[in-house]
Amino acid sequence: MRLERPSLKWKSEHIAYLKEWDEAKVNPSSFRLKKDFPYEDYLEELKEEEAGKNNRVPNSNYFLIDENNRILGAVTIRHFLSDYLRNVDGHIGAGIRPSERRKGYATFLLSEALKITDQLGIRSVLVTCNEDNIGSAAVIIKNGGVEDESFTEPHGNVVRRFWIER
Ligand SMILES: CC(C)(COP(=O)(O)OP(=O)(O)OC[C@H]1O[C@@H](n2cnc3c(N)ncnc32)[C@H](O)[C@@H]1OP(=O)(O)O)[C@@H](O)C(=O)NCCC(=O)NCCS
Repeated sequence: MRLERPSLKWKSEHIAYLKEWDEAKVNPSSFRLKKDFPYEDYLEELKEEEAGKNNRVPNSNYFLIDENNRILGAVTIRHFLSDYLRNVDGHIGAGIRPSERRKGYATFLLSEALKITDQLGIRSVLVTCNEDNIGSAAVIIKNGGVEDESFTEPHGNVVRRFWIER
């Protein structure tokens, strides 16, 4: 398994990957594709957002790819924390395609993402999940996450917050 940046060569695999997801739930959201929006334009927009456009904190995005060149999951790594990220989304957001869950892939993907935050010089990595996301909390704890105070969003959603020290 390896991480690869989104590029034109992943277009058909990316579309197949998204067919397994409920559109509104695609996580991380950077991997959502708008209907009838050319893939080249998606890639261009992603590049701009990675550089900080649209109020984004600079970020990096990768697919998790298996030996058969199939996308298993995806991850977004945010290079620093805004106030919002400090409370809600953290440094790293990840997702695994529904047919490939419960096989250890998210645990592996987070461990690979932590090598990238190491390269970025981030010593304390914040990773969060919603209170009801037991799988995500297990993945974070397996990667050394130590729980901090939760944050309750204005609409009542409770976010669990974990720090991974490197
Ligand atoms: C959460 C998610 C990333 C977990 O991915 P995964 O590849 O299934 O996770 P892993 O296989 O690495 O599981 C790690 C641990 O979590 C446990 N786990 C995973 N999903 C679980 C679930 N739904 N309920 C209970 N435990 C779960 C596994 O049993 C495993 O523990 P074990 O090794 O002790 O058995 C995946 O379900 C997903 O993509 N969900 C939608 C997007 C999302 O919620 N992303 C995280 C937002 S912060």
